[in-house]
Amino acid sequence: MRAAITGVSGYVPKDILSNKDLETMVDTNDEWIVSRTGIKTRHILKGEGLGTSDMAAPAVLELLRKTGTKPEEVGALICATVTPDHLFPATANIICDKVGIKDALSFDLGAACSGFLFALVTGAQYIETGMFKKVIVVGADKMSSIVDYTDRSTCVIFGDGAGAVMLEPTNDDTGILDSILRSDGSGRDFLHQKGGGSVNPATEQTVKDKMHYIFQEGKTVFKFAVTKMADVSAEIMDKNNLTADDVAWLVPHQANLRIIDATARRMGVNDSKVMVNIDRYGNTTSATIPLCLMEWESRLNKGDNIVLAAFGGGFTWGSILIKWSYDSK
Ligand code: UT7
Repeated sequence: MRAAITGVSGYVPKDILSNKDLETMVDTNDEWIVSRTGIKTRHILKGEGLGTSDMAAPAVLELLRKTGTKPEEVGALICATVTPDHLFPATANIICDKVGIKDALSFDLGAACSGFLFALVTGAQYIETGMFKKVIVVGADKMSSIVDYTDRSTCVIFGDGAGAVMLEPTNDDTGILDSILRSDGSGRDFLHQKGGGSVNPATEQTVKDKMHYIFQEGKTVFKFAVTKMADVSAEIMDKNNLTADDVAWLVPHQANLRIIDATARRMGVNDSKVMVNIDRYGNTTSATIPLCLMEWESRLNKGDNIVLAAFGGGFTWGSILIKWSYDSK
């Protein structure tokens, strides 16, 4: 028995932060941002007391509606995020409460920008073992809550958003066919949030030292990302004897258009088969891949071979091969 994605949904907040807006906040310009990253706008969740679950809950509610699922039918909900509502309880628990899912197994999973891939494969295990019939996998991040809007090297990159997919069993030849997931903790120095955990709990000093914001050594992360994401995407094709013609879609994590292009080139896949929405959403961390699936859902056909690929903090990286399970409705 395989796990198949049987529905997708997503949510982005209404407020938009454009490159022009950023020009008034830091020493940057539209030309630099577009040519180095491909980003033009990002959506930002504004409003007192709103967090990641406030984007994930509407995405999950829409998923339940679209797939005709009652909350009580959901066996598990996994939320990939690096910006949980609170350190505990898990944001997944809060999402379940907000959408009426009771007594399900729910937990958060942290693998930074590869979080959705790690969560998808984790969720699939519950289906493949027969433990649950319906599992929801969410990727959601309110990156604006950990971005330093005086640091031009990071504030232009990130945006907020949430995406969700439903996993169910399938007995045909579709579903999640294969995955390669990797991590290397020695990369932690180059992309991290220093403060707020058990090593550097929040103090007046950690706030003064800006330790609760994202730190990224962009050039180093870029070098790893561009190699690892391309390698692992080519590897899953080789492992499954797929040529570029066999691949219907590449769904890459949206961190930088240059990394996406390099991955597509390495796979031999042309641009028309690559899902790209970084121009409108920026890097929404765990939400990039499900937001792409949501936007392209109507163009996906049963039997399409789809490669998901990501690289992120940790370092973490991976690829997943899916044979799509339904025609658009
Ligand atoms: O999603 C998780 C994984 N993350 C990634 O995959 C991100 C990987 N890294 C990147 O995407 C890129 O490294 C960045 C987009 C973050 C930066 O692009 P870059 O081409 O690597 O730029 P850089 O850091 O090498 O900086 C080049 C120059 C520097 O100026 P000097 O030293 O050459 O005078 C920076 O100070 O660009 C400057 N710079 C900026 N200029 C205008 C850095 N940020 C900006 C900015 N506007 N926003």
